[in-house]
Amino acid sequence: MSRLIVEGLHKLDGETAIHGAKNSVLPVLAATLLAEGESEITNCPRLSDVRATASILRHLGCEVSTEGDVVTVNPAGLCRSDIPDHLMREMRSSIVFLGAIAARTGEAQLSFPGGCELGPRPINLHLSALRRLGLEIEEERGRLNCRTGGRRLRGAAVTLEQPSVGATENLLLASVTAEGTTSIINAAREPEVVDLCRYLNACGAQITGAGESTITVEGVERLNSCRHRVLPDRIETVTYLAAAAATGGRVTLTHTDPTLISSVLPAFEEAGCRLDWAENSRRLTLTAPDRLKRITSVLTMPYPGFPTDAQAPVMAMTCVAEGTSVFIETIFDSRYRHVDELARLGAHIKVEGRVAVVEGVPELSGAQVECTDLRGGAALVIAALAADGETEITALRHLDRGYDRLEEGLARLGARIRRMD
Ligand code: EPU
Repeated sequence: MSRLIVEGLHKLDGETAIHGAKNSVLPVLAATLLAEGESEITNCPRLSDVRATASILRHLGCEVSTEGDVVTVNPAGLCRSDIPDHLMREMRSSIVFLGAIAARTGEAQLSFPGGCELGPRPINLHLSALRRLGLEIEEERGRLNCRTGGRRLRGAAVTLEQPSVGATENLLLASVTAEGTTSIINAAREPEVVDLCRYLNACGAQITGAGESTITVEGVERLNSCRHRVLPDRIETVTYLAAAAATGGRVTLTHTDPTLISSVLPAFEEAGCRLDWAENSRRLTLTAPDRLKRITSVLTMPYPGFPTDAQAPVMAMTCVAEGTSVFIETIFDSRYRHVDELARLGAHIKVEGRVAVVEGVPELSGAQVECTDLRGGAALVIAALAADGETEITALRHLDRGYDRLEEGLARLGARIRRMD
């Protein structure tokens, strides 16, 4: 069983590069199914979720090769329209394949993603939106059997009850080659949705309004392929900033885009950190004070609000801040599972429903902890870096889903962290 051993209380200092965004590369890879010809996706992070996505593409008959951070997909051999249960279970966000498979093959069979470590993961918005485009969907004993009835999907005006990232992506994938115009009203505005639209438009799709609440898609008959560079991972960026802040360090992150985290940067400033970056620059430097100050309140919201994925990493740094910080999680039902693990390191946190109140302590102390989910795992790494003594972190499969060799990046910044297999 792999584990991380962290010796805390070493200030991070130095420079490291941010990888491509997990939540962008996954839908972009699903979208390569729609292209005629070979797409070359660069700046792909090395993640188990990317490997799971490649397995799905291969299962469907696509040729997939990986060299360094470049993943090349050729869908010419596409010969199936199903995703087996074990691949669906490996990565619940594989539901985003539904729109692409149905649009490309006229049918799709996959299993219901079910719940996950963040609580229930309903897909009602995905299904009702795709039905509006004419996809017939039958739900039968945990499987979804979908068909277009031999026709192209038809564009429609679709209003999402919530600006769901996955439902917006599924609709985009289903509508780019549909007949006529699709309007996605109350669409997700996340940068990863914009990145997917950038890829699709470079392949010849006609999408306008990406990044706004209404996206319009004029269906085209076919898409070409293209070369696409995945945008930087804003949550990985926040994770490194929080790690530097929690240790009182100074780090420079390169290959990132500070404008993607403009709702998070004020929290670091409130905590007493200095942030330096130049307009249009892809570098961001954080200089932390010896002791962080509290962050009055963090309210997670859809983009451009404070991202739910940044909640746990930022909470970890407030565990050692002076004073009380308050978090309100509005996106997922069960996103405080890291709290009990942080408590093992000596953090003082009370959770009441959607609210978590963190009473900062002067010092945490090393202990044995277990990753509860991806971002919760990152929070434990950050807390361990700020803890006196040694911490052992297990269940690294969560971390490896979404961080490209986090321990190597942190070690480059001077952290005492090693992986034991
Ligand atoms: N929701 C529904 N019905 C639906 C879809 C969503 O009720 O049909 C609810 C969800 O239960 C949740 C809220 O709407 O309460 C938002 O869910 P959304 O669909 O926006 O999230 P997602 O597409 O499942 C993506 C990211 C998550 C990130 C969220 C929110 C990917 C692969 N995943 O999930 O990333 O937290 O958007 O920004 O893009 C992570 O990286 O750690 C992660 C969990």
